[in-house]
Amino acid sequence: MRRRLIALMLLLGLPLTALADGDAARGEQLSYTCTGCHGIPFYKNVYPTYTVPRLGGQNQEYIVAALKAYRSGERQHATMQAQANTLSDQDIEDIAAYFASLATLEGDAS
Ligand code: HEC
Repeated sequence: MRRRLIALMLLLGLPLTALADGDAARGEQLSYTCTGCHGIPFYKNVYPTYTVPRLGGQNQEYIVAALKAYRSGERQHATMQAQANTLSDQDIEDIAAYFASLATLEGDAS
């Protein structure tokens, strides 16, 4: 099945990366609200000023795990729990794919 899907995608000229768990393009749209705090490249909340962890280039699995932990309440932080509560599993995968992809765009592999 998967081989036929790949053949079809090649035929349609779709990038194979779309087969990965997260859809970075969709994640970019979903993360519009996130970047207000997780601003890239400044990664500080503007007002009130507090440090917000940088997400651009963060490991994809780590972002998924962190968001699921906020959503389940395993990781406590009122703001992020409220954010994560609105996200579906697919949203989380897509958002993680987007933020993880930013490292490549910046040419920073770390
Ligand atoms: C109102 C500001 C704000 C918004 C909006 C916000 N965040 Fe956060 N985020 C924070 C803060 C502050 C932390 C650090 C919380 C902590 O210490 O656990 C954080 C932590 C995180 C972490 C864990 C990072 C780490 O290094 O452990 C992830 C992942 C994350 N946010 C993703 C998102 C996503 C995705 C969105 C959008 C759906 C979002 N955030 C929206 C403020 C925000």
